[in-house]
Amino acid sequence: PVPTPQWRPVYHFTAEKNWLNDPNGLIYLNGVYHMYYQHNPFENKWGHMSWGHATSRDLLHWQHLPVAIPEIETKDTTTMIFSGSAVWDEHNTSGFGKHGKGAIVAIYTGHQPKQGKESQFIAYSNDGGLTYTNYTGNPVVDINKGDFRDPSVIWLEDQRKWLMTVAEPGAHKILFYSSANLKEWELLSEFSNQGDTRKIWECPSLTPMYVDGDPAKKKWVLMISSGNPDAQQGLQYFTGDFDGRRFINDNPAESKLFIDYGKTFYAAIPFNHLPGNKQTMIGWLVPFETPTHPWRGQMSIPRDMLLKHTPQGVRLYQQPAAVITSSLVKLPAAKRLSKKQFTVTGGLTLNNTKRFHSNAYWLDATFATGGADEFGFRIAQQKNGDKVVAETVIGYNAQRQELYITQIKDGNVTGNTEKMAVSPEDGKVRLQVLFDKSSLEVFVNGGEKVLTTLLFPAENATGLTLFAKGAVQVDTLKGWDLGK
Ligand code: FRU
Repeated sequence: PVPTPQWRPVYHFTAEKNWLNDPNGLIYLNGVYHMYYQHNPFENKWGHMSWGHATSRDLLHWQHLPVAIPEIETKDTTTMIFSGSAVWDEHNTSGFGKHGKGAIVAIYTGHQPKQGKESQFIAYSNDGGLTYTNYTGNPVVDINKGDFRDPSVIWLEDQRKWLMTVAEPGAHKILFYSSANLKEWELLSEFSNQGDTRKIWECPSLTPMYVDGDPAKKKWVLMISSGNPDAQQGLQYFTGDFDGRRFINDNPAESKLFIDYGKTFYAAIPFNHLPGNKQTMIGWLVPFETPTHPWRGQMSIPRDMLLKHTPQGVRLYQQPAAVITSSLVKLPAAKRLSKKQFTVTGGLTLNNTKRFHSNAYWLDATFATGGADEFGFRIAQQKNGDKVVAETVIGYNAQRQELYITQIKDGNVTGNTEKMAVSPEDGKVRLQVLFDKSSLEVFVNGGEKVLTTLLFPAENATGLTLFAKGAVQVDTLKGWDLGK
C-alpha cells in the first residue's frame, strides 16, 4: 500500500499505525484525558480488537501509549475486547483498589466469535490506566446472546450505585442495569423501538445534563449509534427523564433527533469523571472511502455537549471543546486570521503560500444573510494556472435555508452532496469549519447542527476562498492555521 501522509490529520487523533474504530473508556483523571479505542494492533483493517490507549492534557496533543487491553487468546476461545467504558472507582466498591486507593475499572464487551457470544467483562488498573488485569469472574453480565454489547457505565451519586447502559443491536433494544460493586448487576428496565430503527443500535450512553446549565432543570440524554455507513445519519439521541429505573422519552416514539447530519460521525461516547457538570464526547469518523496508510480511521474533534431549551423542545448543541478553543489564542500571529465587518462580492482568497496553506485549519465566520443567495468557503482548491480544477464547497443556500457540502472536480460534482436544513438566527449564520487534511466538521449557529464528512484532496489542493453569490456581509471572520 502507498503511504498517505497528505491525509493524516494534524489535530484529530489517529493511531500511530493500523486500524482504529470507536472511542472507548474516555475518562478524565488528575488533569489527564485518557482515550482508549478499538484497535487492531497488527493490521490496517478491522480485527484482533483490543483497547489502544493515548493520553492528552489539552485534547489537542496526544501521547501514544501501549495497548492497554489486548485480545485474549486461550486454547478454545478468542475474546476480542469490544467497546465499553472506564470508571474511577474512588470508593473501591469493587475491591480492586490497592493500598487504600481506588482503581480504574474498564467495562467492555467480550466478543467470542467461536462461541458466537457477546457478554460484559470487567478489568481493573492499579497503575493509572496503563495496564489492566481481567477479572477472574468474567463475564459479569451474560444473557446468552451473540448480539449484546457496548456497556457504558456511570456513577449515580444519589443512589451510590453504578448504572450500565448496554445494547442489543439487532433487537433495537437498550438495557439498563445497576450494581453496587461493578461485579453483580441487576436488570432495571429496557428501552426499545423508538426513534430511528432502520439500522442496528450500538454504543449507547445515558448522560445526566442541565438544560441551559441550570441545575434545577435536569434532563437525561440517551445517545445511540444506529448503523453506518448506509444510513444517512449515524447517531441519534433522545432527551428525557430517568427515575432511577426507567428512561422516559420526552418526545413521541416516532420522533427522531440526530447528533450529526453527515454519515461518518459514529460511536460517540462522553468522558467520564469530568469536573463540574460538563459533558464532552468524542466520536469515530468511519473511513467509508479512500484507504489511508499506515493508519486507518480517525476521531472527531472532542465536542462539548450543551442542552438548550428551544421553541421545538430541549435540543443538544455541540461545540468544539472549550479546552481546545481556549488554547488556539496561543498560536503565533502569523498563524491567525482576524477580520471584521466587510463585504465580499464573488470571492476573496484567504490564503497565500505562507499561511492557511496546510489544509489543517479552523475557521469561524458569522455572515449576515440577506444580500447573497449563497455564501461560504471553497476549500482544498486545486489550481491549474488560475483555473480551479478541484475543490470542496461548504455553502449556505439562503433561499433553501440549507447548508451543503459538495466536492467538485473539473466542473462536475463528484459523489453525493451532503445537506442539512438550518435557519438563520437573528438574520445571521455562523459557520465553524474544522478542516484537517481529510476530515471536515462544520458546526452551524453555535452547534445547533453539525455536518461531518471526509475528503481526500490532492497534495497541492490547498486553495482557500470565501465566496458569495451576490454580496455577503461578513460580521467577523477568524482563522487558526494548525498545520506546519
Ligand atoms: C461499533 C462497533 C461496536 C463494537 C465495536 C467492535 O462501531 O460495531 O458495536 O463493540 O464496533 O469493534
